[in-house]
Amino acid sequence: MKIPFSPPYHDEAVEAEVLDSLRSGWITTGPKVRSLEQETAKISELTHALCCNSATSAMMLVLHWFGVSRGDEVIVPAYTYCATALACLHLGATPVMVDCGTDFNLDISKVEDAITEKTKVIIPVDIAGWPCDYDLLLQLLNSKKVREIFVAKNEVQKALGRPLILSDAAHSLGAKLNGKPAAKFADFTVYSFHAVKNVTTAEGGAIVINWPITSDHEQIYKTFKLWSLNGQTKDAFSKSQAGGWKYDIVYPGFKMNMPDILAAIGLAQIRIYSDVLLKKRKAIAEYYNSYFKAYNWAIVPPFNNERKETAAHLYLLRIDNCTENQRDQIIDELANLNVAVNVHFIPMPMLTVFKERGYDISKFPKAYEQYSNEISLPLYPQLTLDQQDYILNSVKKSVEKILS
Ligand SMILES: Cc1ncc(COP(=O)(O)O)c(C=O)c1O
Repeated sequence: MKIPFSPPYHDEAVEAEVLDSLRSGWITTGPKVRSLEQETAKISELTHALCCNSATSAMMLVLHWFGVSRGDEVIVPAYTYCATALACLHLGATPVMVDCGTDFNLDISKVEDAITEKTKVIIPVDIAGWPCDYDLLLQLLNSKKVREIFVAKNEVQKALGRPLILSDAAHSLGAKLNGKPAAKFADFTVYSFHAVKNVTTAEGGAIVINWPITSDHEQIYKTFKLWSLNGQTKDAFSKSQAGGWKYDIVYPGFKMNMPDILAAIGLAQIRIYSDVLLKKRKAIAEYYNSYFKAYNWAIVPPFNNERKETAAHLYLLRIDNCTENQRDQIIDELANLNVAVNVHFIPMPMLTVFKERGYDISKFPKAYEQYSNEISLPLYPQLTLDQQDYILNSVKKSVEKILS
């Protein structure tokens, strides 16, 4: 048996949507993107979502809208994919890294010490689909002490009066906190629709808007849309209609729009996401959890509890009493058995681009500890029961061989 790590989901409905886009004569930003935006907003129980060409672009757009620029600081977890911090660097801001907890997520209790008068934004990341404690973070950011430290540089920042919460929910479409979509707790939430994500458009992302200062989010949506399309007053779809050629460029915008042909892939998936795809992911994660109960070397990832529901994006297994080198050997054993696994993530301070900027993994001991014995197992709705059993038996065999 050969198990790939994360092949994209597709069925006849996905194929039909893509064909429909091709045959319609319109393949870039248009009605399919609009439908995907509406579905994304609906899952988040919010009114407005904007699709972009990646989650990285989407984060940059929000940071730019909030006025983040050179000299500002943005708090990010040390334990995440590089994109979280790169989005800040691209705008000239300094990512300030904070260590994680045993659930892999940003340790909220360490955020307060990292806040300075330069802090403009906090970007918590729902690692593997497990939502952060946004309610606790919001409580901290709304405290008198933090509001007094906050220095507003523009009208938008003045209106908020505290650092912005931009949730990097690249992994966590459908995750819940206190019974509500996690996106209802952050000011803005960004999803990724990259090829390995729970819903994919091959490449893509979306911003959902929960700006607390006004409930009229249409204006922010329109601004994001304009800025994601070069600052052009008419999108290509409207411009292509008979007589609709005139346009103006009113802002030095970005080119970050999602094309319809890609939105089509995600549209057919998101329609069955909550009832089919997400349910299957959770069922597989539960099956893995029940198997690993019998083995005291297995530390399973956080799963649903009374406060949180996971989006089961990744299954982050940790092996107790296992060094980094032994973990790597276990991965080699699994490769010999044709099971493709992964490691999420190499903490950012271990990557060259960040080391060169002075970040040092010894300052983030929890991130190193979580990383050093972690193995991400295949987790996707297409996995059959036989494949799941093969993965589990292969993990057991490989771990016992290396640790014995
Ligand atoms: C935590 C996290 N944030 C952001 C991203 C970036 O997503 P995209 O590739 O859509 O820009 C990823 C992608 O893997 C990710 O894992």
